[in-house]
Amino acid sequence: MNLDELKELRQVACETAVSAGKLAHEMWSQPRQIEQKGFRDLVTDADFAVQHCITDAIRTKFPDHGFLTEEEDSQLPETGPIIWIIDPIDGTTNYSRNVPEFCVSIAACARQADGYQPLAAAIYDPMRQELFSAAKGQGATLQTGDTPPRPTAVSSVNSTENAVLALDWSSSADTRTSILELVGELMHSSFTVRAIGTAALAMAWVAAGRVDAYINLRLRPWDVAAALLLVQESGGTFTTPAGEPIMWDVAGMSCLVSNGRLQFNL
Ligand code: IPD
Ligand code: CA
Ligand code: CA
Repeated sequence: MNLDELKELRQVACETAVSAGKLAHEMWSQPRQIEQKGFRDLVTDADFAVQHCITDAIRTKFPDHGFLTEEEDSQLPETGPIIWIIDPIDGTTNYSRNVPEFCVSIAACARQADGYQPLAAAIYDPMRQELFSAAKGQGATLQTGDTPPRPTAVSSVNSTENAVLALDWSSSADTRTSILELVGELMHSSFTVRAIGTAALAMAWVAAGRVDAYINLRLRPWDVAAALLLVQESGGTFTTPAGEPIMWDVAGMSCLVSNGRLQFNL
């Protein structure tokens, strides 16, 4: 893939994330239709509307590309030279309760034997008009409203006792038990621990140096794809809690996202 192609993928990811985020923001104050699609797993009418907004825009631009989306849509092709991995609203529980922490996450990826290689990515927080974006080998930026984009970099905090950590709970009882064990340890060894309720945005905040590390023991590809590129292009690391490369798995992945300067014994 040449530089112009990468730039085009990033631009489409950014424009689409911003339009989709505007739609999520418009729907924010209206009454929600909320369904339970799984155990402790909600979906709203806005998740579907925002996903359609994203996939329609990308299909118009790239009719031969494929999709991996959080919300089911039988109309979408699954294969193509590029796979767009999309979480229309990351933080649906927050969104459904009018907690203003959520984002749109979009990544254009190359398919590999063992998963995906994100090439261009955008995460948009419509409540703050913050657009995080990256392209492989080209760095990552944060643009707020109409101001010029600024490069993002992970924090320089290098001791766990000074580290502001973030994590999220999982829906499953077993995973919650594992996270509670981790929190029990980290709560005492770190400066503090936050649970934000939107994995993609929390990981974008690691990329921007606002949070020093983020842990989640059960993320899906659409939570991960865009944030992975943002964090790597901002100088951070994205591994399993044991420090191994993540193994892509649609059923769930254990992830430790860090500024790369902290030592954890997880
Ligand atoms: C969820 C959020 C949450 C994380 C879950 C995700 P959704 O995504 O990112 O913070 O803990 O693992 O599934 O359902 O709001 O898109
Ligand atoms: Ca998600
Ligand atoms: Ca979602």
